[in-house]
Parts: sequence; C-alpha cells; structure tokens
Amino acid sequence: MLSGVYSVGGWKVKENEELTVKRLFENDAAEVEELLREVWPKAAEYPEKWRSARIIGQRQIMNEMKTGFHYFGVRLNRKIVGFYKARVLKDAYIGEHQSVHPAYRGRGLARAMYKHFIQFARETEYRRICVNVLPSQVASVKLMEKFGFKKVKEYEQIPGMLVHLYEKEIESEDATGKTVK
Ligand SMILES: CC(C)(COP(=O)(O)OP(=O)(O)OC[C@H]1O[C@@H](n2cnc3c(N)ncnc32)[C@H](O)[C@@H]1OP(=O)(O)O)[C@@H](O)C(=O)NCCC(=O)NCCS
Repeated sequence: MLSGVYSVGGWKVKENEELTVKRLFENDAAEVEELLREVWPKAAEYPEKWRSARIIGQRQIMNEMKTGFHYFGVRLNRKIVGFYKARVLKDAYIGEHQSVHPAYRGRGLARAMYKHFIQFARETEYRRICVNVLPSQVASVKLMEKFGFKKVKEYEQIPGMLVHLYEKEIESEDATGKTVK
C-alpha cells in the first residue's frame, strides 16, 4: 500500500491518496463492469467489434474468475480505476484486457500493473509472460519497451485487427532479492 506524497516507477501518489494493486474477487465484478463501460466505448483505436466485446458483464467476469483468469485491480482510495487479467496459455501467462479509467491516465497506473504482472509471474512456476498489443496503442508500445518485452509475432487477432505479440522472460530473485537468470 502506498500513501502520502510518493513516487514509485513514475506513479505520482498525491497527499491523502492510497494506491494498491491487488487480486480482485467476485464481489468486485460490478465495479469492474462499470470500469469497462467507461474505458472501451472510448477506445477508438480498436475496431468497434473488439471494443464491444471488451465490455463484459458481471456474470461473465465472475465466470472467468472461476475458470482460470486471475483478475487484478488498481484501487485509488479503494475505488477500482484500473484492471488487468492474466491466464495460463501453453507455458506462459498472457496478460489481457488492461484498462485504465480515462480520468486516471498518464499517471503510471498501467506501469504499476506491469510491475505487478511481472512479480505475480515470478512467484509462479511460469517463467514467461506475453501480451498482444495494437501497434497504434502508443502507451502500450512504450510499456513493452520499458519492461524489455520482445516482439515475437504479428497476426490478426480478429479479422482486420493486426496485433503484435510480445514476450518477456522472467528472471528469478535469490533470497536477498538479487536478480538471477
Ligand atoms: C493503455 C492504457 C492501459 C495506459 O494506461 P496509463 O495508466 O495511462 O499508462 P501509464 O500512465 O502507465 O503510461 C505508460 C507510458 O505511456 C505513456 N502514455 C500514456 N498515455 C499516452 C498517450 N495517450 N500518448 C502517448 N504516450 C502515452 C506514458 O507517458 C508512459 O510512458 P513513459 O513511461 O515513457 O512516461 C490506457 O490508455 C487504456 O486503458 N487504454 C484503453 C484500453 C487499452 O488500449 N488497453 C491496452 C490493452 S493491451
């Protein structure tokens, strides 16, 4: 938990703000749905079909939580203002559906979620994480560079929507917290 005047990885927490990135549960589903309704209708860089498919309802969210998707949310003063989900795909974790409320963009929330994703995967048996990114989604492309992801494939995720698949190998930490390959 972070609070007070603080900066972590560029995220600026103001006085009286409290930021957490934590696992979400079924009783958070309504708030996640609300967030998706704020984010995806305005995500104009994606085709309409993709945007509307991203606006999933509480029932689907709860269903996904029960069937292998790990949901994580950024809470600012307890309100969910960002979220991503991760699931196992072959021998890696794939991060998906990252969404930051438009009113809280550009303050490092997505970056905080990537840090969390890397730490989450590091604590599991999987040593590889991946993400599909739209080449025109500037913030996501910057994050791929910042966190040292490598572009491994270009393909159409749905007809007409070209994406880049990025991967990152996760390094381990020894008992002192030092990175080991
Ligand atoms: C993509 C998204 C999650 C980014 O969230 P965010 O919290 O605003 O991102 P951050 O503040 O952590 O910024 C990450 C980097 O992108 C930059 N950035 C953020 N918004 C930007 C913009 N509109 N244009 C250019 N750069 C931008 C930041 O400056 C930062 O770069 P830096 O580390 O070099 O300073 C958010 O814009 C969003 O929800 N978009 C709609 C849904 C979407 O596209 N999700 C991605 C699915 S893969």
